[in-house]
Amino acid sequence: MALYSDTVMDHFRNPRNVGVIEDADGVGEVGNAKCGDIMKIYLKIEDDVVADVKFETFGCGSAIASSSMATELIKGKPVAEAMALTNRAVAEALDGLPAHKLHCSVLAEEAIRSALEDYYRKHPEKAPEK
Ligand code: FES
Repeated sequence: MALYSDTVMDHFRNPRNVGVIEDADGVGEVGNAKCGDIMKIYLKIEDDVVADVKFETFGCGSAIASSSMATELIKGKPVAEAMALTNRAVAEALDGLPAHKLHCSVLAEEAIRSALEDYYRKHPEKAPEK
């Protein structure tokens, strides 16, 4: 069996939603100290929905594929759903990642959460009750 699924290769070769949103409502950047990869997510939120999302990833192929898939999974979705996105859902949507590459999908989950937390910091009235 090939190490990477066709879906991973597709999102690595043709990543969706690459770029920057200049007037983003939330920005999140996370890194993995071990591999040194960095992922940055930009969100545009309208009426509690992820109206647009872009990413910049300086990292391995799995990190790029994970960012691409994660942005596709939350685009057009309610903010609460985006907040609940797990790395497992990203890896499953990619038809799996090799075990030693699962941390790349964790980076995507963390980057999205960090961007949403930034959004809530800027819009405390939107933050869920604790
Ligand atoms: Fe670290 Fe992929 S090797 S994010």
